[in-house]
Amino acid sequence: MKNNFYNKSLISIKSVSKEDSLYIFEMADKLKNEVIKKGKTNDLEGKILAALCYEPSSRTFSSFITAIQRLGGGFIPLNGMEYTSVDKGETISDTAKVFSSYADIIVLRHPVVGSVSEFAKSATVPVINAGDGSREHPTQAFLDSYTIGKHFKSFENITVGLVGDLLYGRTVHSLSLLLSKLGVKKFIFISPDLLKMPPEIVSGLKMLNCEITESESLDSSIGNMDIIYMTRVQKERFSDILVYEKYKLAYILNKSLMQKAKSSSIVLHPLPRVGEILEEIDSDPRALYFREEMRNGLYVRMAIIKSILIQ
Ligand code: NCD
Repeated sequence: MKNNFYNKSLISIKSVSKEDSLYIFEMADKLKNEVIKKGKTNDLEGKILAALCYEPSSRTFSSFITAIQRLGGGFIPLNGMEYTSVDKGETISDTAKVFSSYADIIVLRHPVVGSVSEFAKSATVPVINAGDGSREHPTQAFLDSYTIGKHFKSFENITVGLVGDLLYGRTVHSLSLLLSKLGVKKFIFISPDLLKMPPEIVSGLKMLNCEITESESLDSSIGNMDIIYMTRVQKERFSDILVYEKYKLAYILNKSLMQKAKSSSIVLHPLPRVGEILEEIDSDPRALYFREEMRNGLYVRMAIIKSILIQ
């Protein structure tokens, strides 16, 4: 298989093909085995990753820092930019030049849509989008698709349910596009009317011959889902806190809803959860968010960094 990631930024799932994803998944499998056997590899000895988070991050930040260390490299960890020159008014393009002088690869999370591609224009090293406002979160899409691929024989026959804040949730934007490229044909989108999947994403999926069902009711649709992908209502994107309060618990996954779900279904969540999955679900064997999804993020991010830095 060909490595199309080498020396390139990863900004959007739009530039990724099915073959590219399978390349990452295969490498993630190999790296997983090496990590289990030896804890680390030395593939990226001498390479430095800068992780710059202009927005809060737990998993994405920590898993990238862990990933580079388990590949034998070093890191510049900036979780929050308040003690950097950004606080003094440095522009995004200057910051890109600064960290390009120190690091071989930059992971960037920023609250503004489009900011990561703007940053990448001034950077002289590859940049990975770790979330640009409400638009995209491509590495989360890779790790979620990888997790799904481990549980179903093929992507062609599964029905993927995406639930919650589909308007502002960047993970579902990247994930729906990647899954459609991998062969998923049926999606069920569950959200309040105000937080529906953006129309350009829905029309893009329809152009790829996907069947899309949009509904406000999780109760009446959960039995048809193979994947139950829950998301948090994105508080930080609301200008009116009262509107957020109204919708924040629009969907709560509990035991009685899970009784209506298929026994073969799986429950995923990019995390953090803030009430939309009750703790009583955590011990359900179908709940994979703590058990597998997060850990897969490490292997998949190792594979992405390695593919970008080594031909
Ligand atoms: C997500 C994000 O930041 O978009 N978290 C993550 O990266 N695992 C989801 C969220 O914050 O709701």
